[in-house]
Amino acid sequence: MSDTKIKKIGVLTSGGDAPGMNAAIRSVVRTANDNDIKVVGIQRGFEGLLHGELSELGGRDVSNIMNRGGTILYTARSAEMRTPEGVEKAAQVCKVLQLDALVIIGGNGSLAGGLDLSKHGINIMGIPGTIDLDLDCTEYTVGFDTAVNTSLDAINKIRDTSCSHERCSVVEVMGRDAGHIALWTGLAGGAEEVLVPEDPVNKDAVVEQILENRSHGKNHNLIVVAEGVGHSQELAEYIEKITGIQTRATILGHLQRGGSPTAKDRLAAGIMGYNAVKLITEGARNRIMIVKDGKFTDIDLEEGLNCKRAYDKTLYDIIKVLAI
Ligand code: F6P
Repeated sequence: MSDTKIKKIGVLTSGGDAPGMNAAIRSVVRTANDNDIKVVGIQRGFEGLLHGELSELGGRDVSNIMNRGGTILYTARSAEMRTPEGVEKAAQVCKVLQLDALVIIGGNGSLAGGLDLSKHGINIMGIPGTIDLDLDCTEYTVGFDTAVNTSLDAINKIRDTSCSHERCSVVEVMGRDAGHIALWTGLAGGAEEVLVPEDPVNKDAVVEQILENRSHGKNHNLIVVAEGVGHSQELAEYIEKITGIQTRATILGHLQRGGSPTAKDRLAAGIMGYNAVKLITEGARNRIMIVKDGKFTDIDLEEGLNCKRAYDKTLYDIIKVLAI
């Protein structure tokens, strides 16, 4: 038990859901309870904050959720929070509720909303929760591992049929601005080419790679495309037209956002939730929980959101070597 003066905090999930968000909520609530801090669960992200959709969360309210995908608090993308009036209103609600801090579990956009709130005096603790791993200040975001494993499971199944029919398969995975899911599943799933938004390969280079691999005796092909590059169906049609190889496109879509979180995601969620509340009790202000050099730590909210990580081609280069 701590001798903190912190009495009440809020917690919300915002933006696209990610497996492990529930485990993070559980961790925040139980750690807060251990420190005699009340937790207000805010539903539907900033939308619920703006419209007073709240309920107190006790330790038992978060039983049996750490194994569940999605978020018990629901989530939303709030257009109102992108206006100065919306931010001011949300900050006012936090003050009326007497929240000593607000824990935001979400991605880039959600934490940017948190930064706006922090400028109105609200103490924000961010927990990166997004399958895309597109928050450059951290080496890990809750949900990524589950999404990669879900995509990989689908790719394994597609490989079976692609191999039987000696076809080419184009598989589109999520990742609007970042190709991390594509690169990880591409390497782990044995793709021959991976198209990522950071550095997309042109379709003729894809065709060339397929033909070269066929000339080396490969009888089926796997191309992974990140959502941010898109046009998977068109690419499949182009490959078939130029090469004469039967080609099928599969867009994995939202199935990647669901499912029971992996051990890695539960662990990250548990540690980050714990660290967020601990920091609040220690008087810290406006931090993002991150992984840096393989260790769980934290960074200033604004500094974290301004971090820019250069695209690292290492995984791509390995994929290309292993594909032949
Ligand atoms: O959460 C990230 C993400 O899954 C992106 O990869 C994708 O572009 C986006 O969310 C989809 O959002 P929505 O569920 O709103 O269609």
